Amino acid sequence: MNLAGTMILVNTPIAHVVNPEDRVYITTLSQWEIAMSRLLDRLKNDHKHLKCLLDRLDQEMAYYRQDESRSPKLLVILDALDYIRTWPEHFHHPLEDRVFSMMHARSTDPELRDVIDRVRAQHKNLEALTQKLGADFNAIVNDQVVPIETVMQDYRRYIDLQLEHLACENQFILPMIDACLLPEDIAIIDKELDDQYREMGTQQLRNEYAELYHFVVDDQKEISQPV
Ligand SMILES: [Fe+2]
Ligand SMILES: [Fe+2]
Repeated sequence: MNLAGTMILVNTPIAHVVNPEDRVYITTLSQWEIAMSRLLDRLKNDHKHLKCLLDRLDQEMAYYRQDESRSPKLLVILDALDYIRTWPEHFHHPLEDRVFSMMHARSTDPELRDVIDRVRAQHKNLEALTQKLGADFNAIVNDQVVPIETVMQDYRRYIDLQLEHLACENQFILPMIDACLLPEDIAIIDKELDDQYREMGTQQLRNEYAELYHFVVDDQKEISQPV
């Protein structure tokens, strides 16, 4: 859907004309619903994919325990780490930061505003923890000695925070987007999403990481096949 430069015909007027200089208009309830559902789908899909990758990573990390029968697949771990670092940093966190800051500005609920402050601060912590974990595995790949206790400790810190973060957003923030944001907020975000989809470099990166996601998750299917 491309709303830029388009005047949407008014079937069910909700009387919001947004950013005249950008020529973005949402004037019908159905347009607002489409834009809202596109935003929620995008955030929920990101969370679903991230959770799948975390499960896959967790499965491999479990093989570092002494009682496990096979070695962890280092390539799968590196690919999963690449995805969980790059996708949130480039796509998911910037979108959430934009949406959440608008919600923060609109909301009069102090509890919701506190939760938003907390998850936004967690984005930076998560990016730092992911970077640390990536550095551990880069050292392992380069045959440097890294105590397994250090790796597992860094992994635990990352995964615990990431799971708490996802649960908090799914439970407390995503369900409130609809109630907090006005049609003009949704129109602005929708236009930004459109602009992002049109950027060639961004699109290429999205495609690469969509492929990487399937590569890592499909590897899991191969493992579960009967031998
Ligand atoms: Fe987040
Ligand atoms: Fe999120």
